Amino acid sequence: MELIDSFGRKINYLRLSVTDRCNMRCRYCMPAGGVGKLRHEDILSYEDLFRIASTAVDLGIEKIRITGGEPLVRKGITTFLARLAAIPGLKQLVLTTNGLMLGDMAGELRAAGVQRLNISLDSLKPETFACITRGGDLARVKAGIAAAERAGFPIKINMVVMRGVNDEEVVEVASLALHKPYTVRFIEYMPAIKEKNWQSLLVPGREIIERVGERFALSPVARKDLAGPAREYRVHGGAGTIGVITPISGHFCGDCNRIRVTATGMAKGCLFAATTLDLKPHLRTSDPAALHDAVRRLVTFKPGMHELSDRQADHDPFAMNCVGG
Ligand code: 5AD
Ligand code: SF4
Repeated sequence: MELIDSFGRKINYLRLSVTDRCNMRCRYCMPAGGVGKLRHEDILSYEDLFRIASTAVDLGIEKIRITGGEPLVRKGITTFLARLAAIPGLKQLVLTTNGLMLGDMAGELRAAGVQRLNISLDSLKPETFACITRGGDLARVKAGIAAAERAGFPIKINMVVMRGVNDEEVVEVASLALHKPYTVRFIEYMPAIKEKNWQSLLVPGREIIERVGERFALSPVARKDLAGPAREYRVHGGAGTIGVITPISGHFCGDCNRIRVTATGMAKGCLFAATTLDLKPHLRTSDPAALHDAVRRLVTFKPGMHELSDRQADHDPFAMNCVGG
Protein backbone atom coordinates (compact mmCIF):
# COMPACT_ATOMS: atom_id res chain seq x y z
CA MET A 1 0.00 0.00 0.00
CA GLU A 2 1.11 3.57 -0.55
CA LEU A 3 0.41 6.72 1.41
CA ILE A 4 0.15 9.74 -0.87
CA ASP A 5 -0.63 13.16 0.56
CA SER A 6 -2.75 15.89 -0.99
CA PHE A 7 0.30 17.36 -2.75
CA GLY A 8 1.21 14.05 -4.40
CA ARG A 9 4.11 13.31 -2.07
CA LYS A 10 4.72 9.69 -1.15
CA ILE A 11 4.83 9.41 2.63
CA ASN A 12 7.03 6.49 3.65
CA TYR A 13 8.96 7.70 6.68
CA LEU A 14 7.73 7.84 10.28
CA ARG A 15 9.64 9.52 13.08
CA LEU A 16 8.45 8.03 16.32
CA SER A 17 9.43 9.53 19.67
CA VAL A 18 9.48 7.10 22.60
CA THR A 19 10.17 9.57 25.40
CA ASP A 20 10.39 13.31 26.10
CA ARG A 21 13.14 12.72 28.66
CA CYS A 22 16.81 13.23 28.07
CA ASN A 23 20.10 12.91 29.90
CA MET A 24 21.34 16.13 28.29
CA ARG A 25 19.82 19.61 27.95
CA CYS A 26 21.02 20.99 24.64
CA ARG A 27 20.47 24.72 24.46
CA TYR A 28 18.82 24.50 21.03
CA CYS A 29 16.35 21.92 22.25
CA MET A 30 15.43 22.70 25.84
CA PRO A 31 15.21 25.77 28.04
CA ALA A 32 17.86 26.06 30.79
CA GLY A 33 15.59 24.69 33.50
CA GLY A 34 14.81 21.61 31.44
CA VAL A 35 11.26 20.76 30.52
CA GLY A 36 8.29 19.94 32.72
CA LYS A 37 8.36 16.18 32.54
CA LEU A 38 5.28 14.60 31.09
CA ARG A 39 3.32 12.41 33.42
CA HIS A 40 4.21 8.76 33.16
CA GLU A 41 0.63 7.80 32.32
CA ASP A 42 0.59 10.21 29.37
CA ILE A 43 3.50 8.44 27.68
CA LEU A 44 2.31 5.71 25.34
CA SER A 45 3.08 2.15 26.33
CA TYR A 46 5.34 0.11 24.08
CA GLU A 47 2.22 -1.80 23.10
CA ASP A 48 0.56 1.37 21.81
CA LEU A 49 3.72 2.59 20.11
CA PHE A 50 4.00 -0.79 18.42
CA ARG A 51 0.40 -0.59 17.18
CA ILE A 52 1.05 2.84 15.71
CA ALA A 53 4.23 1.61 14.03
CA SER A 54 2.69 -1.51 12.57
CA THR A 55 -0.41 0.37 11.38
CA ALA A 56 1.84 2.91 9.70
CA VAL A 57 3.83 0.15 7.98
CA ASP A 58 0.58 -1.46 6.89
CA LEU A 59 -0.37 1.81 5.24
CA GLY A 60 2.92 2.31 3.40
CA ILE A 61 5.58 3.50 5.85
CA GLU A 62 8.91 1.83 4.98
CA LYS A 63 11.32 3.59 7.29
CA ILE A 64 10.97 4.32 11.00
CA ARG A 65 13.30 6.54 12.97
CA ILE A 66 13.11 6.25 16.73
CA THR A 67 13.75 9.55 18.50
CA GLY A 68 13.20 11.16 21.90
CA GLY A 69 14.20 13.06 24.02
CA GLU A 70 16.89 10.49 24.25
CA PRO A 71 15.37 7.15 23.21
CA LEU A 72 18.00 5.07 24.99
CA VAL A 73 16.95 6.34 28.43
CA ARG A 74 13.61 4.54 28.19
CA LYS A 75 13.67 1.15 29.93
CA GLY A 76 13.06 -1.82 27.70
CA ILE A 77 13.94 0.04 24.52
CA THR A 78 16.02 -2.79 23.04
CA THR A 79 13.21 -5.31 23.30
CA PHE A 80 10.83 -2.81 21.72
CA LEU A 81 13.26 -2.15 18.87
CA ALA A 82 13.61 -5.87 18.18
CA ARG A 83 9.82 -6.11 17.88
CA LEU A 84 9.72 -3.18 15.48
CA ALA A 85 12.54 -4.61 13.38
CA ALA A 86 10.44 -7.71 12.82
CA ILE A 87 7.42 -5.86 11.35
CA PRO A 88 6.95 -7.30 7.85
CA GLY A 89 7.32 -4.60 5.21
CA LEU A 90 9.51 -2.31 7.30
CA LYS A 91 12.67 -1.73 5.27
CA GLN A 92 14.65 0.49 7.61
CA LEU A 93 14.74 0.91 11.36
CA VAL A 94 17.07 3.69 12.45
CA LEU A 95 17.61 5.66 15.64
CA THR A 96 18.74 9.13 16.69
CA THR A 97 20.75 9.35 19.89
CA ASN A 98 23.02 11.73 21.77
CA GLY A 99 25.50 8.86 22.09
CA LEU A 100 25.93 8.98 25.87
CA MET A 101 24.70 5.43 26.39
CA LEU A 102 26.11 3.79 23.29
CA GLY A 103 29.20 2.56 25.12
CA ASP A 104 26.96 0.07 26.90
CA MET A 105 24.18 -0.39 24.39
CA ALA A 106 25.61 -0.35 20.86
CA GLY A 107 25.99 -4.13 20.64
CA GLU A 108 22.46 -4.92 21.80
CA LEU A 109 20.98 -2.28 19.49
CA ARG A 110 22.73 -3.84 16.53
CA ALA A 111 21.53 -7.29 17.58
CA ALA A 112 17.96 -5.94 17.90
CA GLY A 113 18.01 -5.01 14.21
CA VAL A 114 18.63 -1.27 14.23
CA GLN A 115 20.30 -0.55 10.90
CA ARG A 116 21.75 2.93 11.37
CA LEU A 117 22.40 5.49 14.07
CA ASN A 118 22.39 9.29 13.91
CA ILE A 119 24.56 10.61 16.69
CA SER A 120 24.52 14.26 17.76
CA LEU A 121 27.97 15.80 18.02
CA ASP A 122 27.90 19.57 18.09
CA SER A 123 31.49 20.23 19.02
CA LEU A 124 34.86 18.49 19.24
CA LYS A 125 35.96 20.77 22.07
CA PRO A 126 35.02 19.44 25.52
CA GLU A 127 34.16 22.89 26.92
CA THR A 128 32.04 23.95 23.96
CA PHE A 129 30.34 20.57 23.95
CA ALA A 130 29.56 20.86 27.66
CA CYS A 131 28.26 24.39 27.12
CA ILE A 132 25.91 23.46 24.25
CA THR A 133 24.63 20.33 25.95
CA ARG A 134 24.70 21.98 29.40
CA GLY A 135 27.04 19.50 30.98
CA GLY A 136 27.35 16.69 28.43
CA ASP A 137 30.57 14.65 28.53
CA LEU A 138 32.27 14.69 25.12
CA ALA A 139 34.66 11.84 25.99
CA ARG A 140 31.71 9.59 26.77
CA VAL A 141 30.00 10.40 23.48
CA LYS A 142 33.23 9.73 21.57
CA ALA A 143 33.53 6.38 23.35
CA GLY A 144 29.91 5.73 22.39
CA ILE A 145 30.65 6.46 18.73
CA ALA A 146 33.63 4.10 18.85
CA ALA A 147 31.45 1.37 20.38
CA ALA A 148 28.84 1.86 17.66
CA GLU A 149 31.50 1.47 15.02
CA ARG A 150 32.80 -1.71 16.63
CA ALA A 151 29.24 -3.04 16.72
CA GLY A 152 29.11 -2.61 12.94
CA PHE A 153 26.92 0.47 12.63
CA PRO A 154 27.35 2.88 9.76
CA ILE A 155 27.88 6.21 11.53
CA LYS A 156 26.08 9.45 10.86
CA ILE A 157 27.08 12.54 12.83
CA ASN A 158 24.62 15.45 13.30
CA MET A 159 25.96 18.90 14.10
CA VAL A 160 23.60 21.81 14.71
CA VAL A 161 25.62 24.83 13.58
CA MET A 162 25.27 28.04 15.61
CA ARG A 163 27.06 31.26 14.80
CA GLY A 164 29.51 32.33 17.47
CA VAL A 165 29.00 29.04 19.33
CA ASN A 166 30.43 26.21 17.23
CA ASP A 167 30.50 27.46 13.64
CA GLU A 168 34.29 27.80 13.71
CA GLU A 169 34.44 24.01 13.94
CA VAL A 170 32.64 23.04 10.73
CA VAL A 171 35.84 22.22 8.84
CA GLU A 172 37.16 20.10 11.70
CA VAL A 173 33.89 18.20 12.02
CA ALA A 174 33.76 17.76 8.24
CA SER A 175 37.21 16.20 8.37
CA LEU A 176 35.72 13.30 10.35
CA ALA A 177 34.42 12.14 6.97
CA LEU A 178 37.93 12.11 5.52
CA HIS A 179 39.46 9.20 7.35
CA LYS A 180 36.34 7.20 8.16
CA PRO A 181 33.25 6.34 6.14
CA TYR A 182 31.16 8.69 8.29
CA THR A 183 28.23 10.69 7.05
CA VAL A 184 28.47 14.16 8.57
CA ARG A 185 25.34 16.32 8.61
CA PHE A 186 25.35 20.01 9.33
CA ILE A 187 21.93 21.19 10.42
CA GLU A 188 20.74 24.77 10.37
CA TYR A 189 19.76 25.95 13.79
CA MET A 190 15.99 26.07 14.18
CA PRO A 191 14.23 28.21 16.77
CA ALA A 192 12.73 25.34 18.73
CA ILE A 193 12.70 27.24 22.00
CA LYS A 194 11.84 30.89 22.47
CA GLU A 195 15.05 32.73 21.80
CA LYS A 196 15.23 36.42 20.99
CA ASN A 197 17.25 37.15 17.88
CA TRP A 198 17.44 33.50 16.94
CA GLN A 199 18.34 34.64 13.42
CA SER A 200 21.76 35.73 14.67
CA LEU A 201 22.58 32.09 15.50
CA LEU A 202 21.59 30.84 12.07
CA VAL A 203 24.39 29.96 9.66
CA PRO A 204 22.75 29.31 6.28
CA GLY A 205 23.58 25.94 4.75
CA ARG A 206 25.12 27.60 1.72
CA GLU A 207 27.66 29.35 3.95
CA ILE A 208 28.50 26.10 5.75
CA ILE A 209 29.17 24.35 2.45
CA GLU A 210 31.24 27.31 1.24
CA ARG A 211 33.40 27.19 4.32
CA VAL A 212 33.96 23.44 4.07
CA GLY A 213 34.46 23.76 0.31
CA GLU A 214 37.31 26.21 0.83
CA ARG A 215 39.19 23.44 2.53
CA PHE A 216 38.05 20.26 0.75
CA ALA A 217 36.99 19.57 -2.81
CA LEU A 218 33.31 18.59 -2.71
CA SER A 219 31.20 16.87 -5.35
CA PRO A 220 27.41 16.54 -5.04
CA VAL A 221 25.86 13.09 -4.53
CA ALA A 222 22.48 12.18 -6.04
CA ARG A 223 19.58 11.73 -3.61
CA LYS A 224 18.61 8.14 -2.79
CA ASP A 225 15.18 6.68 -2.16
CA LEU A 226 14.11 6.89 1.51
CA ALA A 227 16.78 9.54 2.00
CA GLY A 228 16.25 12.47 4.30
CA PRO A 229 16.29 16.09 3.14
CA ALA A 230 20.08 16.55 3.20
CA ARG A 231 22.03 17.83 0.24
CA GLU A 232 24.99 15.55 0.23
CA TYR A 233 28.58 15.84 -1.03
CA ARG A 234 31.48 13.47 -1.36
CA VAL A 235 34.71 14.81 0.10
CA HIS A 236 37.40 14.35 -2.51
CA GLY A 237 39.85 11.73 -1.30
CA GLY A 238 37.73 11.00 1.76
CA ALA A 239 35.98 7.85 2.92
CA GLY A 240 32.67 9.45 3.89
CA THR A 241 30.29 12.20 2.85
CA ILE A 242 29.12 15.50 4.26
CA GLY A 243 25.73 17.08 3.89
CA VAL A 244 23.69 20.03 4.93
CA ILE A 245 20.11 20.20 6.10
CA THR A 246 18.49 23.57 5.55
CA PRO A 247 15.10 23.69 7.24
CA ILE A 248 15.24 27.49 7.37
CA SER A 249 17.13 28.81 4.35
CA GLY A 250 15.97 26.26 1.81
CA HIS A 251 12.65 24.54 1.83
CA PHE A 252 12.84 20.85 1.18
CA CYS A 253 9.11 20.60 1.78
CA GLY A 254 8.50 19.52 -1.82
CA ASP A 255 10.42 16.30 -1.18
CA CYS A 256 9.17 15.75 2.34
CA ASN A 257 8.25 12.11 2.91
CA ARG A 258 7.73 12.08 6.67
CA ILE A 259 5.22 12.16 9.46
CA ARG A 260 5.90 12.34 13.19
CA VAL A 261 4.35 10.91 16.32
CA THR A 262 5.29 12.09 19.81
CA ALA A 263 5.68 9.85 22.83
CA THR A 264 2.22 10.96 23.98
CA GLY A 265 0.60 9.93 20.71
CA MET A 266 0.28 13.34 19.10
CA ALA A 267 0.76 12.96 15.37
CA LYS A 268 2.10 15.78 13.21
CA GLY A 269 2.34 16.10 9.47
CA CYS A 270 5.06 18.73 9.79
CA LEU A 271 7.43 19.81 12.54
CA PHE A 272 6.21 23.38 12.15
CA ALA A 273 2.51 22.63 11.78
CA ALA A 274 0.22 23.94 14.48
CA THR A 275 -2.25 21.14 13.82
CA THR A 276 -1.71 17.89 15.66
CA LEU A 277 -3.85 14.81 15.69
CA ASP A 278 -4.25 12.95 18.96
CA LEU A 279 -3.97 9.23 18.25
CA LYS A 280 -4.82 8.19 21.82
CA PRO A 281 -8.61 8.01 21.39
CA HIS A 282 -8.04 5.83 18.31
CA LEU A 283 -5.89 3.46 20.34
CA ARG A 284 -8.63 3.10 22.95
CA THR A 285 -11.56 2.19 20.72
CA SER A 286 -12.53 -1.34 19.85
CA ASP A 287 -12.78 -0.38 16.19
CA PRO A 288 -9.68 -1.83 14.54
CA ALA A 289 -9.98 0.57 11.59
CA ALA A 290 -9.89 3.70 13.77
CA LEU A 291 -6.12 3.97 13.95
CA HIS A 292 -5.74 3.27 10.23
CA ASP A 293 -8.20 6.04 9.42
CA ALA A 294 -6.52 8.48 11.78
CA VAL A 295 -3.07 7.97 10.22
CA ARG A 296 -4.58 8.39 6.76
CA ARG A 297 -6.29 11.59 7.83
CA LEU A 298 -3.02 12.92 9.22
CA VAL A 299 -1.42 12.42 5.82
CA THR A 300 -4.24 14.24 4.05
CA PHE A 301 -3.81 17.36 6.16
CA LYS A 302 -0.01 17.38 5.96
CA PRO A 303 0.75 20.95 4.86
CA GLY A 304 2.38 21.69 1.52
CA MET A 305 5.18 23.65 3.10
CA HIS A 306 6.08 25.38 6.33
CA GLU A 307 6.18 29.13 6.62
CA LEU A 308 9.04 29.62 9.00
CA SER A 309 11.75 31.82 7.54
CA ASP A 310 14.69 33.82 8.78
CA ARG A 311 12.63 36.95 8.29
CA GLN A 312 10.10 35.89 10.85
CA ALA A 313 10.57 37.61 14.18
CA ASP A 314 8.62 35.33 16.42
CA HIS A 315 7.06 31.91 16.27
CA ASP A 316 5.50 29.27 18.47
CA PRO A 317 8.02 27.00 20.14
CA PHE A 318 7.52 23.36 19.25
CA ALA A 319 9.10 21.37 22.10
CA MET A 320 11.84 19.63 20.16
CA ASN A 321 12.38 17.20 22.99
CA CYS A 322 8.92 15.81 22.30
CA VAL A 323 9.03 15.71 18.53
CA GLY A 324 12.56 14.44 18.22
CA GLY A 325 14.16 16.85 15.77
N1 5AD B 1 17.68 23.01 15.50
C1 5AD B 1 18.20 22.10 14.65
N2 5AD B 1 18.25 20.77 14.94
C2 5AD B 1 17.78 20.38 16.10
N3 5AD B 1 17.70 19.16 16.67
C3 5AD B 1 17.13 19.29 17.88
N4 5AD B 1 16.82 20.57 18.12
C4 5AD B 1 17.21 21.28 17.03
C5 5AD B 1 17.18 22.65 16.68
N5 5AD B 1 16.67 23.57 17.49
C6 5AD B 1 18.16 17.94 16.03
C7 5AD B 1 19.63 17.76 16.20
C8 5AD B 1 19.80 16.72 17.22
C9 5AD B 1 18.55 15.91 17.00
C10 5AD B 1 18.12 15.16 18.20
O1 5AD B 1 17.55 16.85 16.65
O2 5AD B 1 20.13 17.20 15.03
O3 5AD B 1 20.98 16.02 16.96
FE1 SF4 C 1 18.56 15.69 24.56
FE2 SF4 C 1 18.79 15.52 21.94
FE3 SF4 C 1 17.40 17.53 23.02
FE4 SF4 C 1 20.05 17.42 23.28
S1 SF4 C 1 18.88 17.64 21.37
S2 SF4 C 1 18.56 17.86 24.92
S3 SF4 C 1 20.45 15.29 23.44
S4 SF4 C 1 16.87 15.40 23.11
